[in-house]
Amino acid sequence: MTWKKNILITGGAGFIGSHLVRLFVTKYPHYRIINLDKLTYAGNLENLKDIESKENYVFEKADIVNKEELIEIFDNYQITDVIHLAAESHVDRSIEGPMEFVMTNVVGTVNLLQVAKDMWKEGEHVFHHVSTDEVYGSLGDDGLFEETTPYDPRSPYSASKASSDHFVRAFYHTYNLPVKISNCSNNYGSHQFPEKLIPLMINNIVLKKPLPIYGKGDNIRDWLWVVDHAKAIDEIFHKGKIGESYNIGGLNEWKNIDLVKYLCRLLDKKLGREEGESEQLITFVKDRSGHDKRYAIDASKIEKELGWKPSVTFEQGLEKTVDWYLENKEWINKVTSGDYQDYYKKMYQNKS
Ligand code: NAD
Ligand code: DAU
Repeated sequence: MTWKKNILITGGAGFIGSHLVRLFVTKYPHYRIINLDKLTYAGNLENLKDIESKENYVFEKADIVNKEELIEIFDNYQITDVIHLAAESHVDRSIEGPMEFVMTNVVGTVNLLQVAKDMWKEGEHVFHHVSTDEVYGSLGDDGLFEETTPYDPRSPYSASKASSDHFVRAFYHTYNLPVKISNCSNNYGSHQFPEKLIPLMINNIVLKKPLPIYGKGDNIRDWLWVVDHAKAIDEIFHKGKIGESYNIGGLNEWKNIDLVKYLCRLLDKKLGREEGESEQLITFVKDRSGHDKRYAIDASKIEKELGWKPSVTFEQGLEKTVDWYLENKEWINKVTSGDYQDYYKKMYQNKS
């Protein structure tokens, strides 16, 4: 079989990566998708059980910090394009230990850029770097992040992602590497590791455990269904302009406390509990250090230029998400056994 493209997706066993891999493997049977993942605590091949035997899908366990492994994979599969998602992604972990974030998010990204630059001497290629809105810093009550908003990262995680974005742009300007960058707001959906707000709260509500809200719960995030993020990446990868950045977001701002209360009400109904029962689990805990106040994305560029917009409302997406977690207890039990218990203790025991 001659493949039209050999696309390397890094971090394809993670939350967003697995949704993207599934979309590309099923939508583009003439592309070969090579999923490169180190399988950290956040990488889980069970996320891809339904597509793992497809002819156009290959998995390679590798670490982007190891350049030799990357060269071998580029060589073996004649990689034509990269969609780069592999990262350490959790802000709280970056506060506890920034160096892992420097290694994977900065050094790993530069390794990938160098290998792509050295291997792609001719032909058409795309290096699509998947990034975050957190690079823009924190908003006050008004305004939205635009593609031209100056970078102002404030956590070790966002500093590492901002740095990787700068390197991607540097490789475009210095070496003409054909790059694209997307900066997305908070994702939610199935298969998200329960360290992030929404799956952590769903799991705790089900288990009747305290619901730890940082500070007063008045921080604001702009939530987008993960499948819509994957579709946006598809549009940018195929139709976006080389050298440009695209913001992706849902125009869907929620205060953390309102979101958690909404989840409580939804789960009370689904679990046949009394109205208001789960809300009693809400516990206000010590705030995250340097907690960014508000994120909100202006997604008008991708809407106007590429015709992308979210396909579901937040209410629809959240219901699908909650249903998935209720129907996949085995998945959640597996990922929350072992190391997760230690993580949870370490992160939350001194917060109350
Ligand atoms: P995730 O933590 O669920 O998954 C990250 C994946 O990367 C895992 O499969 C992990 O095994 C892999 N990985 C980590 N280090 C690696 C290494 N050194 N080499 C190879 N693989 C490695 O993350 P996610 O939430 O799916 O985020 C994916 C990407 O999207 C990240 O780059 C993140 O910054 C970005 N992003 C996330 C969100 C969000 O809301 N989750 C929003 C915008 C952008
Ligand atoms: O904006 C995009 C970013 O969104 C991504 O780049 C990151 O990879 C992703 O982790 C996410 O970062 P956040 O820090 O916004 O997500 P998190 O789910 O950790 O937290 C969401 C909000 O909820 C935030 O204001 C902190 C708060 N929170 C979080 C947890 C885990 C709590 O109040 N309690 C909690 O237990």
